[in-house]
Amino acid sequence: MSDFVVSARKYRPQTFDTVVGQTSITGTLKNAIKNDHLAQAFLFCGSRGVGKTTTARILAKTINCFNRSEQIEACDVCDSCVSFNTGNSLNVYEMDGASNNSVDDIRNLIEQIRIAPQLGTHKIYIIDEVHMLSNSAFNAFLKTLEEPPKHAIFILATTEKHKIIPTILSRCQIFDFNRIRVKDISDHLAVIATKEGVTADPEALHLLAMKADGALRDALSIFDQIVTFAGNTVTYKHVLENLNVLDYDYYFKVVESAEKEDIPSALLILNDIYQKGFDGHNFVNGLTDHYRDLLVCKDVRTLSLMDVPETIQQKFVEQSKLIDSSRILRALSVLSKIDVDYKSSKNPRLLIEVGLMQLCSLKQEQEKKNG
Ligand SMILES: Nc1ncnc2c1ncn2[C@@H]1O[C@H](COP(=O)(O)OP(=O)(O)OP(=O)(O)O)[C@@H](O)[C@H]1O
Ligand SMILES: [Mg+2]
Ligand SMILES: [Zn+2]
Repeated sequence: MSDFVVSARKYRPQTFDTVVGQTSITGTLKNAIKNDHLAQAFLFCGSRGVGKTTTARILAKTINCFNRSEQIEACDVCDSCVSFNTGNSLNVYEMDGASNNSVDDIRNLIEQIRIAPQLGTHKIYIIDEVHMLSNSAFNAFLKTLEEPPKHAIFILATTEKHKIIPTILSRCQIFDFNRIRVKDISDHLAVIATKEGVTADPEALHLLAMKADGALRDALSIFDQIVTFAGNTVTYKHVLENLNVLDYDYYFKVVESAEKEDIPSALLILNDIYQKGFDGHNFVNGLTDHYRDLLVCKDVRTLSLMDVPETIQQKFVEQSKLIDSSRILRALSVLSKIDVDYKSSKNPRLLIEVGLMQLCSLKQEQEKKNG
């Protein structure tokens, strides 16, 4: 058997400071521990793979650590930390709301809660996917949540805050976890790549991070997938091929054709895209983003609004110098019309082709107007 461990598990943060992109939450939690001002019930909400379970575990471990550092991190060597790390802690209970969602499960839990901790000061109950609890289980839980014994702390986690009944919400201190920013994800991936002995292009990691859509766990899974495919050197091209995303280059070329008023070349690029099996609507949206980025990089003040790697940013800046803003705005309105009409169109390819012809005629249109 191979001892391969997926990166998402291998690199689960063990301290508050290594949790990526949630500094206001980890900061608040650390302060609460430091000032001995802990709530008895926490609710961690946010989309999947952003660090809710991870943070819940760190919080549990840190509260019970006998030897916390000045930075309010767990020591990882005291009896409490060791028993937590080996999964034998008698003070930290983890329950998965998805598989233990009956009233009986909750009643068992409530029985246990009454017994004071044998080691340390607190008993901590992490209930993951808490929105999956049945209604009657929720109700049974409510009383305990209302008047918990002094030593009990609850950390509830969910991706679906709207499914949590208001009576529970109002009894918890609520933390909304952010989706992780592309830059934070790609920086984190770079660190992990180094640890894994993988050489990866910044552009490759950036693209991968965009694809993860704010979820770090997804980013790490995609990273594993690409390393399996590409080996220890990961290039931009590997990621493109593996994730089936359209290269920036296509958009640069389409805009170039539009500026040269070269309809045939624009149509041939589209054909190429179709032949590679890409979806037309995606292409339209990608081209819209491209024009938007061209507009944004016309002014240094809005450069930061661009979500592309630095090397490619320079290419955008150069292309944007060749097109004036009013033409970009016209292009955006042509594309937004295609986007709206796309779903109802009987011949979406023709719709895009006509759109491309319009883009190639924008210069003429402008000249006529200026007469
Ligand atoms: N903010 C983060 N910083 C560092 N790593 C993270 C972060 N969020 C997620 N990860 C990575 O993804 C893995 C899964 O994270 P975690 O279980 O905490 O997500 P979650 O928010 O509980 O997701 P779900 O809603 O799917 O349960 C972690 O083991 C870690 O590798
Ligand atoms: Mg979780
Ligand atoms: Zn400790």
